[in-house]
Amino acid sequence: MSQTDNNQTLLSEYGKYMLPVLNFRDIVLVRGQGSYVWDANGNRYLDLNSGQFCAVLGHSDPGVSRRMLEISQTLQDTDTSTLTEAVLRAARKIHDCAPEMNGRIIFLSTGAEAVECCLKYAKHIKEKAGVISFDKAYHGLTHGSAAYSMSRDRIRPTVDHSYVTPAPLAHVDDEAETDRCIEAFRQTVDDRKQDIAAAIFEPIISGGGFFFPPRRYFQAIRKICDDNGIFLVFDECQTGFGRTGSWFYYQQLGCVPDFVVSAKAMGLGYPVSCVIANGNTIPHAKFAMEYFSSHQNESYAGALVSHLIDEIETRDLLDQNRASGAYLLAKLNAIAAESSLVSAPRGKGLMCAFDLSAPPRLDSKQAGDLFCRLAQQNGLLIQHCNLGRTIRLLPNYAATREDFDFFGAQLKATLAMFQATLDQTL
Ligand SMILES: Cc1ncc(COP(=O)(O)O)c(C=O)c1O
Repeated sequence: MSQTDNNQTLLSEYGKYMLPVLNFRDIVLVRGQGSYVWDANGNRYLDLNSGQFCAVLGHSDPGVSRRMLEISQTLQDTDTSTLTEAVLRAARKIHDCAPEMNGRIIFLSTGAEAVECCLKYAKHIKEKAGVISFDKAYHGLTHGSAAYSMSRDRIRPTVDHSYVTPAPLAHVDDEAETDRCIEAFRQTVDDRKQDIAAAIFEPIISGGGFFFPPRRYFQAIRKICDDNGIFLVFDECQTGFGRTGSWFYYQQLGCVPDFVVSAKAMGLGYPVSCVIANGNTIPHAKFAMEYFSSHQNESYAGALVSHLIDEIETRDLLDQNRASGAYLLAKLNAIAAESSLVSAPRGKGLMCAFDLSAPPRLDSKQAGDLFCRLAQQNGLLIQHCNLGRTIRLLPNYAATREDFDFFGAQLKATLAMFQATLDQTL
């Protein structure tokens, strides 16, 4: 008896109403619980992306639904110039998680929006237009944030006064490369000193290929920024709110920025982002810059952020993320030792990755797509980045060792299928 394929039925009936901006997966998800999600045919998948790195307490966390219900039954939306108790309390909590920043906070909706707001503020205060960013950066898809990202070449018209500096890409600190990148940054600043308001960096370069520039690099950049009156901005959209085992990753770098931008985890699956301005280094004249948008400082943002911070504290999730990240990385190391397809496993807390060593004859994007498709057939939702060369894993903070054992077994099965497909087709 043939079984109805509900995924295909839904996609063929309704998929045509979606703007085709992506190659969507061939499954339709209908529910999630903890680390797992289910498709319309009842198949279960381990979600190693925690949504899009956002649902960090796992799917259907009861605390998240309780907080959202409370907000929807009390005060859902206010005019932009009115603050709510939920927002004020959450700002105080963020301030306390980042004591080095003595932060002043604005809540927004997406990472790109927070990047825009932050750089606008930085340019406004400095009365300069220039921004420097990494060649391999990703800061979002709005006109400005994309202009400071890898996709800058596709921005039409380009955003003037945007400058690029090379990122150190060695997986172990390569002194010569780090020095070369520091000098390149210094040169960019020297050449355009009068024009530059800010330098923005992902402290862990994620989409560009999972690189971890060394502490020494950022400390040198901090000094150059200080010497030249340039704001240093860390884009912690992915690294913020506990993912790497500290509240913010700058806390592991010995380098305090002038602005932190964050998003993703803090909204627990809902659109919440923020800018944290350093209260010690940034002048906070009243109305330094007016900013007024529909979803800024929303109550639900405050409620969700407070919930996340409370959960991280009461469940010791910073320690847990370090420990479970180490467990996941050890698993990747063991698999890399056995398989020539897996190389350079690396990670910090629950931000892990490895490179896929597909044969050079195969286009890396096609190889990455194929690998992720096979992983899905084996019950894993994973993503590639760096044009298919790198597989990144950003599981939820409550993922267990059993989840990672399941991942390890299914990754091996996926590698075997990948190898068999390569053998057949090449
Ligand atoms: C480091 C970084 N910055 C900014 C963004 C943009 O965030 P959003 O997609 O919420 O606009 C992302 C999203 O992936 C990101 O990873």
